[in-house]
Amino acid sequence: MATTIRIADIANYVGQEVTLKGWVYAKTGKGRLHFVRVRDGSGQVQCVAFKKEIDPEYFEIVKGLTQESSVIITGEVRADERAKGFPAGYEIGLKTVEVVQEAVDYPITPKEHGTEFLMDRRHLWLRSNQQWAILRIRATIIKALRDFLDNDGFLLVDTPIITPAAGEETTTLFSIDYFGDEAYLAQTGQLYNEANMMAHGKVYCFGPTFRAEKSKTRRHLIEFWMLEPEIAYCSLEELMDVEEQMVAYVVQQVLEKNRPELEAIGRDISKLEVLTAPFARISYDDAVEKLQAAYEKEKDPEQKELLKIEWGEDFGSPQETALAEMFDKPVFVYHYPSAVKAFYMQPVDGRPEVCRSVDLLAPEGYGEIIGGSERIYDADLLIQKIDEHGFDRANYEWYIELRQYGTVPHAGFGLGIERTVAWICGLAHIRETIPYARLLNRKYP
Ligand code: 4AD
Repeated sequence: MATTIRIADIANYVGQEVTLKGWVYAKTGKGRLHFVRVRDGSGQVQCVAFKKEIDPEYFEIVKGLTQESSVIITGEVRADERAKGFPAGYEIGLKTVEVVQEAVDYPITPKEHGTEFLMDRRHLWLRSNQQWAILRIRATIIKALRDFLDNDGFLLVDTPIITPAAGEETTTLFSIDYFGDEAYLAQTGQLYNEANMMAHGKVYCFGPTFRAEKSKTRRHLIEFWMLEPEIAYCSLEELMDVEEQMVAYVVQQVLEKNRPELEAIGRDISKLEVLTAPFARISYDDAVEKLQAAYEKEKDPEQKELLKIEWGEDFGSPQETALAEMFDKPVFVYHYPSAVKAFYMQPVDGRPEVCRSVDLLAPEGYGEIIGGSERIYDADLLIQKIDEHGFDRANYEWYIELRQYGTVPHAGFGLGIERTVAWICGLAHIRETIPYARLLNRKYP
C-alpha cells in the first residue's frame, strides 16, 4: 500500500509511490496521454496518465474524469522543474484511480463567469485557485497578527458580540430583539477591551464586528473581522510604533510563506517588498494642505472634484487614495477633527477641535486599514462627551467607572482584516477577502 500524503509535502516523496485523496481540478489530453490536475486542499499537482504505463481499466476511468469529482489516486512522484502546481516542480505518474463520487456538470468552468454568478456559488467558488490562494494568505495574515501581539506581551481577551449600547456611532447599529429588549451586534470590542486592559495591561480582541452601513463600496462589508489591541499607559506616538512594526511584520510573513499564492493571484510582489518600517506620519492639517495643493494642480475637472476638501471634513475614499498615492508605503494621518471621530477620543491639549486619533492609510488606493486613538481617561470629560452625543449615560456606567478606579492614559486601535487582505493581495473588491461576504445586497450563501 502506498503512503497517503498531502500534496503540500510532496517534495519528501520523490521516487516513491504515494496515494492522494482529493478532487479533479481539471483534465486535459487526448489519445494515449491524459493530464489530471488533482487538488487535495493542501496543494495541487499534475498527474500524468500514459496509456502504456497503466492498467487499461484505470486508463478508461481517467479518460472519463470530470471536473471536481472526488478521487483517490496512486502514482509515483517525479521531480520536474517545468511542472506547475502548488508546490511547483513535481508531477505524478498515475497508476490507479478510484472515483469516490462523480461530479456532473460542475457549474464553475474554466470559462469566464460574472461576479454575481460566482458569488451565488461562493460555496463552490472557494475551490478555485485564486480564491484558495486568497484564503491561505488571509490565514497567514491573521496568524502573523496574533503571533506579533502574543510575542509582544499582549493577552487575547474575547469581547461580547451582543451589546447593550453603541461602541462607535448610533447610525450604523444592527439591532436585535433580546427577549423583548433592544440589543445590538458589536461594532467594536473596544469598550470592553478597555476594561480588560485595566486588568491585563496589554490586550487584544479578535472577532467579527457589524456595521449596518448602507454603503455599497468595494471597501465596506456588513460583517467584518477586526483585530483590536488596547494598551495601558500608551501615547499616540507609541501606538503608531506598534502599528508600523505589526504591519511590516505581517507583510514580511506573507512574503515568506505565500509567494506561490501571491503569484497565483497576480500580485505585484515588488510593491510589498518595500514595505518596511517606519512609515510616514503626517497631521490631518498637513494632509488637508496636501490635498488642497493637489486640487489646485489637477487639470481634469472630474479628478479635481474628487480631491476637494475643506478643513473639518472627513476624508472619503478618493481623498484617502490621493493622499496614499503621495507615499509608496502606508502613511499615518493623525489629529483628525474631533467632530468626525468617535466620542471616546482624547482631545489634543489646548486644541480640543482635534483629537489624538490616527488612521493608517494603505498604498495603492486601499484606504484606511487601521483606526485608533488615545482614549479619554478623565471621567468628567467622558461624561460630557457621552451627553454631547446624546447617548444614554446609564448604558455607559461601567465604562465611566473605568475612569473612576485607577484611570490611566491609554490607547488602542482596530485593524480591519478584510481591508488588509484586499490590500496585501491587491484585490479590486473586498468581497473576495472573506469566505462568505455579507454585503448590502447579499447574505447568501
Ligand atoms: O475606524 P473603525 O470604525 O474603528 C473602531 O471601530 C475602533 N473602535 C477600533 C479601535 O480603536 N479599537 O474601524 C477600524 C477598522 C478600519 O480601519 C477598517 O479597516 C475596518 O475596521 N472597517 C471595516 N472593514 C470592512 N467593512 C467595514 N464596513 C468597515 N468599517 C471599518
